[in-house]
Amino acid sequence: MNAPATTALVSQLKSTVTDTKATDIRAAFASDPERFSQYSVTLDDMLFDYSKCAVNEKVLDGLEALAKAAKVAEKRDAMFAGEAINITEGRAVLHTALRNRSNTPVLVDGRDVMPDVNAVLDAMGAFSDGIRSGALTGATGKKITDVVNIGIGGSDLGPVMATLALAPDHDGPRLHFVSNVDGAHIADTLKLLDAETSLFIVASKTFTTIETMTNAATARAFIAETLGEKAVGKHFCAVSTALDKVAAFGIDSDRIFGFWDWVGGRYSVWSAIGLPLMIAIGKENFGEFLAGAHSIDNHFRTAPLRENIPMLLGLLGFYHRNVLDYPTRAILPYDQRLSRFPAYLQQLDMESNGKGVTLDGTAVEGNSGPVVWGEPGTNGQHAFYQLIHQGTSVIPAEFMIAANGHEPHLRHQHQLLIANCLAQSEALMKGRTLEEAKAQMAAKGQDAAFIERIAPHRVFTGNRPSLTFVYDQMTPFTFGRLIAIYEHRVFVEGALFNINSFDQWGVELGKELATGLLPVVEGKESAEGHDSSTAGLVAALLKAAN
Ligand code: F6P
Repeated sequence: MNAPATTALVSQLKSTVTDTKATDIRAAFASDPERFSQYSVTLDDMLFDYSKCAVNEKVLDGLEALAKAAKVAEKRDAMFAGEAINITEGRAVLHTALRNRSNTPVLVDGRDVMPDVNAVLDAMGAFSDGIRSGALTGATGKKITDVVNIGIGGSDLGPVMATLALAPDHDGPRLHFVSNVDGAHIADTLKLLDAETSLFIVASKTFTTIETMTNAATARAFIAETLGEKAVGKHFCAVSTALDKVAAFGIDSDRIFGFWDWVGGRYSVWSAIGLPLMIAIGKENFGEFLAGAHSIDNHFRTAPLRENIPMLLGLLGFYHRNVLDYPTRAILPYDQRLSRFPAYLQQLDMESNGKGVTLDGTAVEGNSGPVVWGEPGTNGQHAFYQLIHQGTSVIPAEFMIAANGHEPHLRHQHQLLIANCLAQSEALMKGRTLEEAKAQMAAKGQDAAFIERIAPHRVFTGNRPSLTFVYDQMTPFTFGRLIAIYEHRVFVEGALFNINSFDQWGVELGKELATGLLPVVEGKESAEGHDSSTAGLVAALLKAAN
């Protein structure tokens, strides 16, 4: 069960919201010219503005009390200290050690993990240098031009979204990502490749994931059939915690990059899972990416709550979900290169906090994590923003925008991007009243009967919450900061929900059933014992199969 104090504080907060009319954000801005400075935080060149959320001093006091009651700070310290906070798997949670640039000892079971972390980073650096420079070639001596990462979930989403995000720093070989077990994914990728100049990275924490193992076997056959069995070693490397299983696949030990069970899949982009990113942008830039995340780790550990960006973001997330009952949140980066960032946050957040059971095994009271979704602006504006502005559900929107793009010659386009981003949050907050809609129509000379009939359709309720991140430019350092902020926000919300954010039992049942269904789909076993819908679907598919 949730801590009793927490449950009581949530009901108190609900009353505070009503009593203080907190959700009238528009009125709050009208009555307080200092609202922006009061409800925004600056951290170096990064600005976090939450003034367009439905907060006031009393609400923030309530949220602070909630954080205290749920012992968020103590739980945070336990995570950084290497305690086994992933209680269902008996593991520490130490992705922060992977980016611990200050190199202070981090103990797991009394042993400092930093020498191992640094050794793998060094090995990754040497390997990526070799691939980038051409010192490490394919079997026929040609330079590697194309690197294919084969992985899924956390072994795919981090590197793929970060490689897209940091495209301006990408000066290494071309990168491709194959994740889906749908043969179309690898087939379409292999078509683009020359075997002689291709390197495959098999990335899997467990080295058992069926999608990854199947795609890796297809890629292996591609190399063996084109260049011969002996060539395989020069065209493969692997990233995993299961070193014995990788060796059994036939990958040389000097091409295996390890990590540890205290790194969750969705938190693994900082580990050897980031190898494709390092090959793309180089080890120095990768180091900057780690340094950005490390700076947020320090900020999260030390900044007072009202200046602590991940704390505030987590508290606001909880507030939206559990006090105001908003079921989803939209991630809206105004940066085309962040096109996969919402999908990345979807796994980070929904696989971490999509739980129904608290740490003591009882049902969560209220809600746990929300649905997380999104697309980059401005594209989303012409697709789903209609519902965010005028739909019947309130959807907190989370915007992010750089002051500078990477295309100085297209400055005007970046200004347009900024104007659109800010206009959206302003429109969501301000809305348009019936009177304003009527006045606007009258100013255009439209007749009274028409105005009466049409004006209600042009009303925006306003008071729709949003928050905005602003930063100088999307560099590796800044991107490291942004991801780490969101990781810690997920942590804070998980602590408030009193759940284990670091296991993922919910994905197991589907995997088990798929394994059982395969022989049925192959026509080797009957569908007896399956429900009539599943049996009917199998029969239809078998009948139509060539
Ligand atoms: O099925 C979910 C999951 O276990 C994720 O948590 C993980 O990121 C993904 O599968 C891939 O797992 P692995 O890296 O072990 O192949």
